[in-house]
Amino acid sequence: MSETAKIIVEGKEYEFPIIVGTEGEKAIDISKLRDLTGHITLDIGFKNTGSTKSDITFLDGEEGILHHRGYSIEDLAEHASFLEVSYLLLYGKLPNAAEYEEFTSTIKEHTLANEGLLAMFNSFPTGSHPMGQLSSMVAALGLYYPKALNPHRSEEAINRTILRLMAKMPTICAMIYKKRNGHPTVYPKNSLDYVANYLNMTFGQVTMPEYEPDPVLVSAMNKLLILHADHEQNCSTSTVRIVGSSQANLYATISAGISALWGPLHGGANQEVIEMLEKIHHDGGDVDKWVAKAKDKEDPFRLMGFGHRVYKNFDPRAVIIKKSAYEVFEVTGMNPLLEIALKLEETALKDDYFISRKLYPNVDFYSGLIYQALGFPEEMFTVLFAIPRTVGWLAHMVELLGDKEQKISRPRQWYTGQDERSYTDLQKR
Ligand code: ACO
Repeated sequence: MSETAKIIVEGKEYEFPIIVGTEGEKAIDISKLRDLTGHITLDIGFKNTGSTKSDITFLDGEEGILHHRGYSIEDLAEHASFLEVSYLLLYGKLPNAAEYEEFTSTIKEHTLANEGLLAMFNSFPTGSHPMGQLSSMVAALGLYYPKALNPHRSEEAINRTILRLMAKMPTICAMIYKKRNGHPTVYPKNSLDYVANYLNMTFGQVTMPEYEPDPVLVSAMNKLLILHADHEQNCSTSTVRIVGSSQANLYATISAGISALWGPLHGGANQEVIEMLEKIHHDGGDVDKWVAKAKDKEDPFRLMGFGHRVYKNFDPRAVIIKKSAYEVFEVTGMNPLLEIALKLEETALKDDYFISRKLYPNVDFYSGLIYQALGFPEEMFTVLFAIPRTVGWLAHMVELLGDKEQKISRPRQWYTGQDERSYTDLQKR
């Protein structure tokens, strides 16, 4: 007989099945808990709650392991292109040559964004945050494809929307960058691959059509996109799944994911890390002082790019990014902020506060240094996270839409407010 967990509620014993994942992860299936006992569970921040089963990504935070569809992140980052990894996440296997050709050429067919979007885009206030612009633009994009808003779409229609969203994300993100600089939009150049095309739309100029990004930078960017593509049930992916569970359209779900990613405790941390390193640099580079601030419970400052809900060991993505940073700096020249980052990491990793809480550098700690070296301004960093994460969100939506057991996400709560009372007339209050 398979394992069970016994729970005693108000003196009565109940048994719940223990289910085991393919990598040995165990979960107590409490789906019948309330029906049987009248009780719910309370788990603030979902620290112990599995919200779904999933075949996409395996993560072992204690060991620092990250796999997509069985392939290690190290293997993928070293050998694959971002679009191969995208195919893997979306369809469950690496593409063969013909599948890859079809996938990449279909994406290229959709790289242009409807010019109608420009009117809305141009009305955004100058200097407004790129993530706010991106989330609005993606939600608005759906309005140009009214059939895609129908919740009962065919598999083919869903796939078309997925490829369209993937294709247009770099175009929209580059438009945001160009507008920020007051420069005209550079249109997609479909002779380039996904990454080079994005860099061309961003750093190329209409007056300089011969712009060619350095292959080392294209390769670093490819790696960064792979490392950010998926990370199982994080805040933004859970948001996408919750919104998607109501059968909202894919544009709305991805827009919601972008909004969730924006927060400084999630994807927004990459911008905050560079701002923090710059502050430390201008403050004289006294790393010990800033580590002490991060440890001080009276001070709201946290060491940005440190700590993770799931990793209680090195974030494997941070290890790869740190190595990649050196390759980029060989081309672009050294950045004094790297030295501060290295000192900060060394000091924190020797400090009892960080050791006892198992706080290690996360994916955001070094990524901003590379983005900065590539020439991106800080407000664009989280946008650079959103481009690849869109594929992860879409893969989770494919899984959700194909899951016959899927239900609308609707958590319960533990009510702690006022108990029942009677209405009193306005004049008598
Ligand atoms: N600096 C200082 N102390 C920290 C940090 C940090 N970066 N991170 C966690 N702690 C401390 C907390 O104060 C808490 O201490 P306590 O037990 O004495 O109260 C303990 O470590 C546990 O922290 P929680 O906030 O409870 O952990 P949680 O899992 O909820 O939060 C999070 C994880 C949000 C990532 C947190 O570590 C953090 O705020 N880090 C900085 C922001 C950041 O880098 N975010 C990016 C995460 S990666 C991503 O989303 C792509």
